[in-house]
Amino acid sequence: MPPASTPPDHPPRAAKAWGGVFREPTDQRVERFTESVSFDRRLADDDIDGSIAHTRMLAATGLVSVSEADAITQALEEIRADIRAGRFEFTVSREDIHLHIEAALTARLGDTGRKLHTARSRNDQVATDLRLHCRRAIDRLDAGLAEVQRAFVGFAEREDGVVIPGYTHLRRAQPVLAAHQLLCWCERLQRDRDRLADCRRRTNVLPLGSGALAGTSLPIDREHVRVSLGFDAVAANSIDAASDRDFACELAFVVALAGVHLSQWAEEWILWSTEEFGFLRLPETFCTGSSIMPQKINPDVLELVRGKSARTIGNLQALLVLLKGLPTAYNRDLQEDKQPLFDSIDTLEAVVGIAAPLIAGTRFDRERVRSGLERGHLDATSLMEALIADGVPQRTAHETVGHLVREALSHGIALGELSDVQCTRHHPGWHPGLRSALGAARAVERMRSAGSTAPASVAEQVAAWRDRLGPSS
Ligand code: ARG
Repeated sequence: MPPASTPPDHPPRAAKAWGGVFREPTDQRVERFTESVSFDRRLADDDIDGSIAHTRMLAATGLVSVSEADAITQALEEIRADIRAGRFEFTVSREDIHLHIEAALTARLGDTGRKLHTARSRNDQVATDLRLHCRRAIDRLDAGLAEVQRAFVGFAEREDGVVIPGYTHLRRAQPVLAAHQLLCWCERLQRDRDRLADCRRRTNVLPLGSGALAGTSLPIDREHVRVSLGFDAVAANSIDAASDRDFACELAFVVALAGVHLSQWAEEWILWSTEEFGFLRLPETFCTGSSIMPQKINPDVLELVRGKSARTIGNLQALLVLLKGLPTAYNRDLQEDKQPLFDSIDTLEAVVGIAAPLIAGTRFDRERVRSGLERGHLDATSLMEALIADGVPQRTAHETVGHLVREALSHGIALGELSDVQCTRHHPGWHPGLRSALGAARAVERMRSAGSTAPASVAEQVAAWRDRLGPSS
């Protein structure tokens, strides 16, 4: 290799990492238009981690000396500390976080700093940084979702035995245990967590070493970097790796779907906490008021959980549209991947952060739920199944109970309040034993299928979740 030397300064282009070929300075409007440092500075830690791993590899393969690598590593740690402490100066003329860190390194170490970018392009660098960033985000989001699950399990345990009306079409359908309904959210969030884990597998592949697109003629050791950074594999195709953003789309999708689940939950609890439903009492510390109507206690937190899911869906769409027209390898469009992705991560983190304590502070209004429980003939299906157990064909049993409900409706009473004479008129085989199917609580107790709202099944679900999730942190 020729001796290291610093090329002569050609101001003002010398400030640019790519300035050599240019004779004229960049228009300042272009600098403002093309910069990303205003938002990619949040990759600083990832960039420094990636650079330190890269430097160690360069030393291991003899591309830089061990003392140079030590100096680079130490200077990068100092730069990290400066950035964290807010002592670092950012300027749009240095485009992005990668060039900022490299410039700060060179300002400290001169020619030694100018060796860091050996066998590396910003294309494989930014792809690596972003994967490291997503990997961390995935782990935080997973922990946050688990905390929300724990809050639901805690609520399910507190409401042991409470029966509530279950709804389909937002009409009273069949009675269910409150715990059963709460654990429904655990299932959905668990699938989100499974999807995060799956997305993490494909995220955890190392692009660094792909160069700009074609690889490098220098004797690098990608396996060395892979091990340092904890990636599961080295990307197999340099052209693919430098511009693959599937992992970003996948994460944005998982976030969007988790956002949709939490939005559904928020909508349900907004309804349940209305005066009209009266099922839930939200913690007052998690409600807000109205500036004009003094009596209002509003569920704004839940409304924003519902509302914020919209942006995560939009972010996913932005990413997909961004990618769909791109030819292979790096195009500057890819710089636009960051803001939607970061926004999705931040949004879901904020949502799970507020959801867990809100759930922990919410209570069922047991008295209100109990007093309204026999409205709406929630036990009709239970009675139908009792007739089927007596040998009545399902269609006949359905029709018979339909007639009984019509009769009860005409008197404004519950099914259980019909007399034996009235019941016998619609079902000659009527016998008082059928009354054991009536009433919301009994309808729940008679359930027996796996996964149903039967008390034994729900107790099993609660125990399984508690076992799986452990106590709340
Ligand atoms: N700021 C750029 C981005 O986020 C870094 C990569 C730039 N590469 C390039 N060849 N201009 O995508």
